Amino acid sequence: MPALDFIKEPIAADLVRYEEFLRTSLKSGNSLTEAMLDYIFESRGKAVRPVLSLLTASVFAGGKPLGERSLLAAMLVEMMHTASLVHDDVIDQSDLRRGKPSVKAVWKSRSAVLIGDYILAKSYGIGMKTGHHDIVDCTVDAMTDMCDGELLQSEHSGKFDLTREVYDRIIYLKTACLIGVSSGTGAMSVDTGAEAVDRMRRFGDALGMAFQIKDDILDYHPSSETGKTPCADIREGKINLPFLLVLERSPQGLREEMRGLTDRASTDDNAAQRLSSLITGNGGIELATVEMDAYIRTALDILSTLPPSRYRQSLEALCPYITSRSY
Ligand code: IPE
Ligand code: IPE
Ligand code: MG
Ligand code: MG
Repeated sequence: MPALDFIKEPIAADLVRYEEFLRTSLKSGNSLTEAMLDYIFESRGKAVRPVLSLLTASVFAGGKPLGERSLLAAMLVEMMHTASLVHDDVIDQSDLRRGKPSVKAVWKSRSAVLIGDYILAKSYGIGMKTGHHDIVDCTVDAMTDMCDGELLQSEHSGKFDLTREVYDRIIYLKTACLIGVSSGTGAMSVDTGAEAVDRMRRFGDALGMAFQIKDDILDYHPSSETGKTPCADIREGKINLPFLLVLERSPQGLREEMRGLTDRASTDDNAAQRLSSLITGNGGIELATVEMDAYIRTALDILSTLPPSRYRQSLEALCPYITSRSY
């Protein structure tokens, strides 16, 4: 697996400036807000979205150091993601995130909702004040899509008639859009032409679809690897891709057994375990991996149209990094 260090290496100096920009931008005079922000920043994730954004900006920056527009684009996608996870753990009632108690577990849902809102409002405020409205506009669209995706997912929770078309729509809206916007606004931030922005958006969209399929697969892995509660999707009635692909291929008897287990999985640990074993035992992971790899091929095809550079190498390395990650 390509190490994240190799991927980040060509933007190391920009990342230092980015970190400073981020911390200064989010500052609050309130001690509880600061304590919560410290906790969130100490438990940072992989930071895939800002890294993708800064790498894409660098591809088109012609060797110049990245400016405020690029730092802002990276901050907006990372902060939108961060707030969405703080809120997601309230929605999904999840107490474990990045191997630590989730914000909701430490401060309870009420404060978790508020700090998520604070992060969003504060980062958008910076976007408006600095006047880079085109970048704010694209990122806000991704946030609307994310909410639509989460609502569409709730609407279909526990429903066995979920089609592949609706599943694709859900993961596009809830995850892929923001990853597409990360590379799209990265390109936009260095004022490259519309064609390049569109091409990088399509690259990020494909990478994002693969990213969410991997997240679905990781739901079947133990929390010691992922740092999240295992089988969370099953317990929430979310029919993720391994589940859907097995369901599509199952005879009536097996479908009925899975339906009964799904109804009980939210409160019955054994039912969740049994359902998980049925999905993995019937090839769900392998089937989903084939689909994920197809999106990665699309992403790599788009990258092959870029001029060779160390930044392009990092974007290429991001593809296998995302599909072979364990958290
Ligand atoms: C998790 O995203 C939620 C999804 C959209 C699948 P990440 O896997 O990027 O989470 P962190 O930020 O690295 O923890
Ligand atoms: C993806 O949903 C997260 C968002 C789009 C907010 P999940 O609920 O599958 O994410 P994890 O698995 O909890 O990180
Ligand atoms: Mg969740
Ligand atoms: Mg998930």
